[in-house]
Amino acid sequence: MIGRLNHVAIATPNIAEAAKVYRDVLGAKVSDPVPQPDHGVVTVFVELPNTKIELLEPLGANSPIMSFLNKNPKGGIHHVCYEVEDIHAACAKMRAEGATITGTGEPKIGAHGKPVIFLHPKDFNGTLIELEQV
Ligand code: CO
Repeated sequence: MIGRLNHVAIATPNIAEAAKVYRDVLGAKVSDPVPQPDHGVVTVFVELPNTKIELLEPLGANSPIMSFLNKNPKGGIHHVCYEVEDIHAACAKMRAEGATITGTGEPKIGAHGKPVIFLHPKDFNGTLIELEQV
């Protein structure tokens, strides 16, 4: 069912510093920071030849990545995102498999303007998984 790896998301307490590391130390192509108030994060995309890295910094008091950063103060890998062809079919399959879909359990528009669901880490080896319809 899952297709390509769309991105790996890394949470950081300081997105300017994180972007600098990817740009200057690792020599990657890095986007400008984009505040996403609807999602409670600031994002920077790092373009790689075969995938993307999504840097995330909390935005606002109710940021969904705040508890992760409280547990991992220096940051860390927050989620991986796999592409699916049909988000509603993926959602139904995950429900049938007994996986826990976070939030309302229904697809919503993600940080890239595409429909997504998030799967709880407890069912997936401790990894938060985002499925994105492309
Ligand atoms: Co993501």
